[in-house]
Amino acid sequence: MTQEVEKTVVNSWNEWDDLKHVIVGRADNCHIPPAEPALDAKVPEDSDMRGQWGRRPQESIDHANELLDKFSIQLENRGIRVDRPTPIDFSQPVTTPDFYTASQFGCMPPRDVLLTVGSEILEATMSYRCRWFEYLCYRPLMQQYWEEDPNFRHEAAPKPRLTDEDYRPDYLSDKIGVEKRLEWAAKKFFVTTETEPLFDAADVLRFGKDLVVQHGFTTNEKGIEWLRRHFPNHRVHSVNFPGDPYPIHIDATFTPLRPGLILNNPQRRLPDEQRQMFNKNDWEIIDAAQPAHNAPPPLCYSSTWLSMNVLVLNQKTVCVEKSEVYQAEQMDNLGMEVIEVELRDAYAFGGGLHCCTADVYRESSFEDYFPKQ
Ligand code: GLY
Repeated sequence: MTQEVEKTVVNSWNEWDDLKHVIVGRADNCHIPPAEPALDAKVPEDSDMRGQWGRRPQESIDHANELLDKFSIQLENRGIRVDRPTPIDFSQPVTTPDFYTASQFGCMPPRDVLLTVGSEILEATMSYRCRWFEYLCYRPLMQQYWEEDPNFRHEAAPKPRLTDEDYRPDYLSDKIGVEKRLEWAAKKFFVTTETEPLFDAADVLRFGKDLVVQHGFTTNEKGIEWLRRHFPNHRVHSVNFPGDPYPIHIDATFTPLRPGLILNNPQRRLPDEQRQMFNKNDWEIIDAAQPAHNAPPPLCYSSTWLSMNVLVLNQKTVCVEKSEVYQAEQMDNLGMEVIEVELRDAYAFGGGLHCCTADVYRESSFEDYFPKQ
């Protein structure tokens, strides 16, 4: 079944209602960026990525693109319109009056950059220097949507300066150790300082009137406050997950499946005092299944918990990575239809099934799922 091309309507208020239109990233020309403060803090100390940078091998790019193309076709076959970004030349350096870095990254994970809230798509500030210009890959689509949908609000958060002031030098060492990192994470002593508002879109989950935002390496308190002021009709909640020594992006940690049900990474449980809003409104937070793998694929930034980085198509249907058998089994037990998608070999390009997509349209409305606050 091929999708009839329809005029764009931008509208998505949550993570679970019927998905009708989505952006799927591309792996073209993807680079491992050179060292920079925020990125170094995220690369695990024992990772094969330490000290490496440059263009990824063409064979791996082609294979990742094959998987992303196949995923797009799977979505289209279910009647979902899929758009793709226009990659820029990521080998170019990023130079601003405040910093220089020798290459960029890629555009496999649109979820990191674009936050869709109702009829608005907001370009995040981003917090890595190598990702400063990544929004350009989505501008052709944003322009098209703007032409086609008179209600579309295309917004961009203030570009940050990303000087050295934005990063704590304590994180520059590659010999911090996981114990110390966990201690710092519990104290919310993250690599990013509070010099200016910073956030990546993938730190935000949408629950209708409530936006739940992870405070961590890629989003600081000022970034959360910026979102609060930008979305005055929403309640914006700051959460953190002390069990994560490398806290970036909420979507391998906390995964809402439908109203009333969230999967939480059992190694990164939401602290008790932050559960109140969920408890009071009878939402269940359950442990996600264990990942099927002991280690991430080679040259990958993410952890094995991309197992729970799923794409919910509607309240009864979810895309799960094909090799993640335990996660698929759990979804099945929760009454969800599981669509298997092969993506593991593309993880290294920026993440899993949630990361590599960004919502344009879900059949959803602005609802209050947490009337008891
Ligand atoms: N936060 C992404 C991961 O767990 O790897």
